[in-house]
Amino acid sequence: MLVGNETSDDGGVYQLTDSIALVQTLDYFTPVVDDPYMFGQITAANALSDIYAMGGVPKTVMNIVGYPIKQLGPEILTEILKGAADKVKEAGAVTIGGHSVDDKEPKFGLSVTGIVHPDKVWKNVGAKPGDLLILTKPLGVGIITTGIKRQAVTEEQEKEVTEVMAMLNKKAAEALHKYSPNAVTDVTGFGLLGHGCEMAKGSGVSFEISLTDVPVLEGTLELAKKGVVPGGSKSNHRWVREDVHYDDDISLEEQLILCDAITSGGLLVSLNEADAHKFLADLKALGIKYSAIIGKVTDKRDKYIYVKR
Ligand code: CO
Ligand code: CO
Repeated sequence: MLVGNETSDDGGVYQLTDSIALVQTLDYFTPVVDDPYMFGQITAANALSDIYAMGGVPKTVMNIVGYPIKQLGPEILTEILKGAADKVKEAGAVTIGGHSVDDKEPKFGLSVTGIVHPDKVWKNVGAKPGDLLILTKPLGVGIITTGIKRQAVTEEQEKEVTEVMAMLNKKAAEALHKYSPNAVTDVTGFGLLGHGCEMAKGSGVSFEISLTDVPVLEGTLELAKKGVVPGGSKSNHRWVREDVHYDDDISLEEQLILCDAITSGGLLVSLNEADAHKFLADLKALGIKYSAIIGKVTDKRDKYIYVKR
């Protein structure tokens, strides 16, 4: 076993031969959007992301389904599975099976197996002072999807957040294979600061994040000011309280955005300064428009993360 549970990494890694290790992950949840086809796409993109975040190439997939077939009928489930299948195909992987049970509310997920060279596993620890931090997708996903449920967002906002969640981290990961990142993870349920704290702690360093450089979906701050913030984001904010210092001019709403619980978020990468600029240029050339350098890694200080404007 090369990577197990200890550092809360994105997946487990098990070495098979000198040149091949398995990367395995499992993710499932209840619907985040109403459209079943998009829910399938988003769930698949989210599960596949953990393989990309480990430096792996996804190969096989198994579906996990909980579904009230008598109440909802087969059509919705067919759409969910079709959405997932399309993303699995885009990833170049194949679905080889799965399991379903009768359930009161729909749940869907995927177990994904990928391969990686044992020497080229990207871990969520190993960030070095002097590295720059790159984020490849915007924050605000949890807040905007909560806004959808409360009918507080525009059609454009709903379309944008759905597209962002359904986007694979495949291209970003492929671009990153040109370089040697010191640490990589994907930003999901614990938010940028939650996953960032794990990376900083595990690496024995501190991060400086500059809020104005962090990509955020349009309208997120307005929703947060109206109190549209999911419970998960609030508990992330409490969870990292001891480890994060916010400058005085960072509002509570802005802090909550940095802690926003995300589905299918982007990669958070710690990469040496010279390569970070090249990698960002590669991402922009690939049309990964929200990607940005959001801060830097320093020697370990009192707190793990310092947030300035
Ligand atoms: Co992950
Ligand atoms: Co995961």
